[in-house]
This record gives sequence, structure tokens and C-alpha cells, in this order.
Amino acid sequence: MIRISPSLLAADFARLSDEINDVHEAGADWLHYDVMDGHFVPNISMGIPVLESIRKATDMFLDVHLMITEPIRYVRQFCAAGADLVNVHVEADNEKNLIEALQLIKNEGKHCGVTLKPATPWEAVLPYLDLVDLVLVMTVEPGFGGQHFMKEQMDKVKALRRMFTEKGLDIRLEVDGGVDRNTAPVCIEAGADVLVAGSAVFRAADRSEAVRLIRGE
Ligand code: DX5
Ligand code: ZN
Repeated sequence: MIRISPSLLAADFARLSDEINDVHEAGADWLHYDVMDGHFVPNISMGIPVLESIRKATDMFLDVHLMITEPIRYVRQFCAAGADLVNVHVEADNEKNLIEALQLIKNEGKHCGVTLKPATPWEAVLPYLDLVDLVLVMTVEPGFGGQHFMKEQMDKVKALRRMFTEKGLDIRLEVDGGVDRNTAPVCIEAGADVLVAGSAVFRAADRSEAVRLIRGE
């Protein structure tokens, strides 16, 4: 089953709970929450207190994407703030600390994922396969919404899907960046089953139609 996870980065921040309820009613499955620290990526977005408020305002599945250096420092707080799934970047720390960060997330009873920047090869997920519920493949350079979809990342998605199938792993495969009604079919074809879409949902004139078309209905 394909899940659509609108990225809140493209919402109107002055009306967050209305925006969330609106995409929920529009048929979105998850909500994607982008955290940036101005260090791992050259931008700053939202953090823990906003997530806490959102948790009180919705029962949607909150898919948190940490674009922060050494995420081990904060994963527990994001879990406590209400994340359902926490994604950490494989480039954000060494293997030992990342494994520990993933274990901390699991210990909090939450789902966890690892994320790959465009230049990172698919094999970088191998040390984490026993722990993760999801792998996120970036289809833009992380840091900003509204960028152009990198089609060449589909080779990575295909390689990961093939490996999950061969090893019999029940791991979700998410794509993030530049996903819209035109690029979504390419992602689904390559094997993605969670599609993040910021601008394509929040900036659409008809959000229900946008969610439906991205899902391929
Ligand atoms: C980029 C973020 C994305 C972004 C996607 O750093 O991780 O989640 O909000 O936005 P769109 O769908 O507009 O490319
Ligand atoms: Zn994201």
C-alpha cells in the first residue's frame, strides 16, 4: 500500500492545525516533519516544541525527518514530543552512534529509519538493516522544499527494493523531494511505498486531487 506523507515545510505555519486537518481530510496517510539545524543542512526549520503542539492537534502518523548533526543527542526528545517514526541521516554521525540512536528510538517504542543524501550509495544502509522500519532516499539535496526531482536517484530505490525482496525484509522505502503527480509514478515503479510531497500537496489548488494523483489513483 502506497502512503502519502505531506511535508509540513510547505504549509502555512501561522495556521498549522488547520493545515494538518486539511491534508488529513484530503486523504494523506502520514505527516512529514522536517527538522533542520543550520549545520547538517544550510537551513533552520522547526524543532521539539512545535512537534509537541502538533501531537496534541492530530492523531496522524508523524514521520520525523531529522536533518541534524549527531541525532543521538535529540532522538529521545523527538520521541517524547510525539514522533511515530524518527529518521536519521547516515551521514550525520559515525556507525556506532547511529546504531545507538536507532536503538534509543526503538526503546521508546517508536519506528525508526535511516536516510540517504543523493550522493550516498545504497550500501550505506547495510549496517542498520536489523534495526530499521524504513529507508528514506532523498530525491533532492536536503535543506529546502520546492526543488527539482532527481530522477537518477531511482537506481538507488530500485537497488534497495531488490535487496529488501531478496533478503525478505519488511522495510518501507520512502522518497522525499520534488515528488508530484508527474514524478510519483516513477518512484512507485522503482519500488517506493511512502511518498513525501510538500509543495505538490500544500500548494495545490485541490489537495484531495493532488493526494489522489500522487498515489496513482
Ligand atoms: C527537504 C525536505 C523535504 C521537503 C520536500 O530538505 O526534507 O521534506 O520539504 O518538499 P517538496 O515536496 O516541495 O520538494
Ligand atoms: Zn523531508
